Amino acid sequence: MDLERLLTDRLAPAFATVAGGPVDPLVRRSPRADFQSDAALALARRLGRPPRDIAAEVLAHAALDDVCAMAEVSGPGFLNLTVADRTLTDLVSELARDDRLGVPPTAAPETVVVDYSGPNVAKEMHVGHLRSTVIGDAAARLLEWLGHRVVRVNHLGDWGTPFGMLIEHLVALGEAEGADEFSMGDLGSFYREARAKFDTDEAFRERSRRRVVALQGGDERTRRLWRLLVEQSERYFLAVYDLLDVTLTGDDFQGESVYHDRLGAVVDDLDRLGLLVDSDGAACVFPPGFTGRDGEPLPLIVRKRDGGYGYPATDLAALRHRIDELGATRLLYVVGLPQRQHLAMVFATAATAGWLCPPARAEHLGFGSILGADGRMLRSRTGESVKLVGLLEEAVARATELARTKNPDWDDRTTAETGRAVGIGAIKYADLATDRAQDYVLDWERMLSLDGNTAPYLQYAYSRIQSVFRRAGAAARPDAPVILTGPAERALAIELLGFAAVVAEVEWSLEFHRLAGYLHRLATSFSAFYERCPVLRAPDELRQSRLLLAELTARTLRQGLHLLGIRTVRRM
Ligand code: ARG
Repeated sequence: MDLERLLTDRLAPAFATVAGGPVDPLVRRSPRADFQSDAALALARRLGRPPRDIAAEVLAHAALDDVCAMAEVSGPGFLNLTVADRTLTDLVSELARDDRLGVPPTAAPETVVVDYSGPNVAKEMHVGHLRSTVIGDAAARLLEWLGHRVVRVNHLGDWGTPFGMLIEHLVALGEAEGADEFSMGDLGSFYREARAKFDTDEAFRERSRRRVVALQGGDERTRRLWRLLVEQSERYFLAVYDLLDVTLTGDDFQGESVYHDRLGAVVDDLDRLGLLVDSDGAACVFPPGFTGRDGEPLPLIVRKRDGGYGYPATDLAALRHRIDELGATRLLYVVGLPQRQHLAMVFATAATAGWLCPPARAEHLGFGSILGADGRMLRSRTGESVKLVGLLEEAVARATELARTKNPDWDDRTTAETGRAVGIGAIKYADLATDRAQDYVLDWERMLSLDGNTAPYLQYAYSRIQSVFRRAGAAARPDAPVILTGPAERALAIELLGFAAVVAEVEWSLEFHRLAGYLHRLATSFSAFYERCPVLRAPDELRQSRLLLAELTARTLRQGLHLLGIRTVRRM
């Protein structure tokens, strides 16, 4: 049981008595006591009574004696709550015996589709895909750990008009040679060459158009060439996922092409529902509530004038597939904020059509951009968007160099493994530790720093605890009595007991900076504890208790980082 929950459960009935109905006590950590409850203020306004009176009356009704050492009204009408040491030691002991660190599996498991990564065939993955991949993977890991059935969907851009020109380019190069050129790391140049020919060569353009028709018509050779492009790209993306340490596998590719045969039904069904409007030959839906700058209603184009279907129709088909066939009730879309309107219109259309209705719901987990040191969109020197792989390799190289300098006696393998865990961890953490709706600046110095809210800081805290255990020569005893001798130990105990509340919050908000912030606070509390409370030199009982606190900190850091997709290392 976490402390917020415990105090909330104790205060809620008292508030209900005073208010004559349910009131959330709004318990939170407080700089003045351990916790505070602010709910008396709003309640006082509602009841037209002085807030301090309300707070005092709530206190009189609340059964807090066995859990709080002190409970008092303060300021304009806050309740300040100081938890009894006995309560803390009991709960920490309970935590030590629980291999889920106080986090229960969900009582209401559901099927959740996490749509993330979604790179495009024959194109480099760029930093926008990095954010989607990192955030989506954290969502998948966390929800799975809570006991939900998670279906990872990698909505690969593997269909549409560009494939005409890409296949023609492959044919022009000769299949074998073309496939060679189109291998690791050359995706970008292959695409650019094809594009250049398409833009300048009329005959090539015409061949490309015919090729699209052949592809959609299922022409065998064309399909084979297309598969070649898709497979090479998938192989490349999987290599990136491996480097990035994300849980996406080859089985999770559910490209746009998968829905090709269902697009007709989407349009027919919308038509039957009377939702289709012809606009200049294009079949459109006008979901309510979307207008352009001029106040005109905005169309969602489901079939283009040339008869082709596009991105919106595909997303509608995918949504139906996820609900009807995969049985999902929670649909997550981890996609950049520029696609906010597109997704909102898809969701609104699906809701109007009756395809998306409770208990099923769709959420767009949007995110901002990664900026360069100049505060502008991250670009390479030549002005193109930065390749993801280059970025990851640089992170690993920098972290490996740091590891080598710090530990010159290590063998190459240990140095490389540590460099990889720290470098990749640093990149992922920098992404997850900021509010995802915000842009953030990619700052190597800061994200690799051993101080501050960074992965290396947390990994270092973890490795420091491992070294304590190496020196102790024994593990902590889970049944060792917990002894709290001073404020640093108390503060650490309170942080340890806060893990469950954070995880429970992030299950719904999927705001991973809250989990990151928690882990950072925990590591900081541990540092303060470790500075003031000797562990190995303490007398036996106290030493056991402190080893237990250290071990719980390590387990929590490890589990928390694991949920974020970040590895811990035993030495740093
Ligand atoms: N391929 C798209 C892109 O690169 C992302 C796909 C997002 N998912 C979706 N269901 N639309 O922008």
